[in-house]
Amino acid sequence: MTNKLEFDDRMLSLGLARVSEAAAIASAKLIGHGDEKAADQAAVNAMREQLNMLDIKGVVVIGEGERDEAPMLFIGEEVGNGNGPGVDIALDPLEGTTLTAKDMPNALTVIAMGPRGSMLHAPDVYMDKLAIGPGFEPCLVTLDMTPSERVATLATAKGCAAADITVCVLERVRHEDMIAELRTTGCAIRLITDGDVAGVIHCAEAEKTGIDMYMGSGGAPEGVLAAAALKCMGGQMQGRLLFRNDDERGRAAKAGITDLNRIYSRDEMVTADVIFAATGVTDGSILTGLKRDGDVIETETILMRSKTGSVRRMTYRQNNN
Ligand code: FBP
Repeated sequence: MTNKLEFDDRMLSLGLARVSEAAAIASAKLIGHGDEKAADQAAVNAMREQLNMLDIKGVVVIGEGERDEAPMLFIGEEVGNGNGPGVDIALDPLEGTTLTAKDMPNALTVIAMGPRGSMLHAPDVYMDKLAIGPGFEPCLVTLDMTPSERVATLATAKGCAAADITVCVLERVRHEDMIAELRTTGCAIRLITDGDVAGVIHCAEAEKTGIDMYMGSGGAPEGVLAAAALKCMGGQMQGRLLFRNDDERGRAAKAGITDLNRIYSRDEMVTADVIFAATGVTDGSILTGLKRDGDVIETETILMRSKTGSVRRMTYRQNNN
């Protein structure tokens, strides 16, 4: 009986893929319609409905916000049908709400699941992020290095010139100084307008995506989701929470975080084996977006388990006729 209630990621993984598929399909009609909120709400509703069919006793630890800010999939919400293991869930029903509303590349639905206590309860603040792919010595690049030191170090480790390194960065005013410094190294920069979960994941498949390193600040919840993905695919990541005011420091206290300057490694953000699923909403370099042909909808989902390092890519076709 006890064994039965342990987190069996193998059995649960397919269920998790259905959850992310459902969220993507629900947002299909809203791609390119300029309404971020409606697209997000559709994904939230579908994700919640599917999650509640799973045999889990789940708690949302990374979600749509605090209970008083989000009507659904809020932090602390209990999900699942209650007939299964206790698990923690991190989710972003629509990572890239603006990308979806404007029909721009790289919008995803994202969810990760692990045993209780396996994921950092990151408050809704910014996180300074740094990621590279697998195959390098531990802590090769760090958040304490300057951007140019990171490029030089990675180039040396790869045996290439700085000009052969591509860094992915969110295009934000707050990153202007960092981008200017990166330019002095001669490296290439792939600027993205949104979606840093995909931004970080790019590093795990550098040959395919052409991106060697991710750096810059973005949402802390997205940081934990990205760490979960890299734990499955391989690759290094560091994150440091950034607090701009007392309200944000209060959020940290509520989440039980006392060391506000701590640098978290990938495995400190995600401390046990997890399952990760993401489905493409719009076309991107990680996943193909939803395709519609009359009543037929096709999605692509990536489903990964950190325990085995398995990566599945699944195409799902649904005919609404
Ligand atoms: P949403 O889908 O919630 O809009 O998030 C998109 C995103 O680009 C994240 O990927 C990223 O972590 C965050 O927003 C960056 O925040 P900001 O737009 O405030 O720079």
